[in-house]
Amino acid sequence: MNNKIRAIVLSVSDTRTEENDISGNKLVELLNEINAEILEKIIVSDDFENLQQTLFSLTETEANLILTTGGTGFAERDNTPEATLAVIEKETPGISEAMRAETAKNTKFAMLSRGVSGIRNQTLIINLPGSTKGVEECFNVIRDILPHAINLISGNTKH
Ligand code: MTE
Repeated sequence: MNNKIRAIVLSVSDTRTEENDISGNKLVELLNEINAEILEKIIVSDDFENLQQTLFSLTETEANLILTTGGTGFAERDNTPEATLAVIEKETPGISEAMRAETAKNTKFAMLSRGVSGIRNQTLIINLPGSTKGVEECFNVIRDILPHAINLISGNTKH
C-alpha cells in the first residue's frame, strides 16, 4: 500500500508572481499526473534566510514532498541548494545526480544546475531548475521512483 504523496511546490525567484509562475504551475500539473495531493504552491524570493526558514516550516507540515523550482544556478542570488542543505538531515544525492546526468544527455546546460535533495522530518526536498523545460525533463527522471521514495521515508506519524 502506497503512502499518499502530499506535495508542496515552492517557486524560488525574486521576480515571479502568480501570473508568471509557469514552472511552478508545470510542477503542479506533473504532480497531479502521479495523483499526488497538492497542499500548496508558494512563491518565495531568493533571500537565503527567508528560504531556509520557509523550507524548515514546510517540513513541519503534513507534506512529505517539497519540490522547489529555481535558484539553483551560478548567479549570486541563487541560494536554493544552500538553503536546502541548511535544513535537511540526510542528503539523497542519487536523485539529484540522476536528474543532472540523464537530462544532460539532451541539454548540456543541465550541468549549470547545482540542485540538491534530501530529507528532513520525513519530508523529501528536491531542487529542480527554474526553467519549465528543465522542470519537465527532471521530473520525468524521478517520476517513477517518487512513490517508493515517499513510502521509504514515511512513518505513520510525523514528529
Ligand atoms: N536542466 C535541464 N534538464 N534542462 C534545462 O533546460 N537549464 C539549465 C540548468 N538545468 C536546464 C537544466 C540552466 S540554463 C540553468 S542556468 C540552471 O539549470 C539553473 O537554473 P535556475 O537558477 O533557474 O535554477
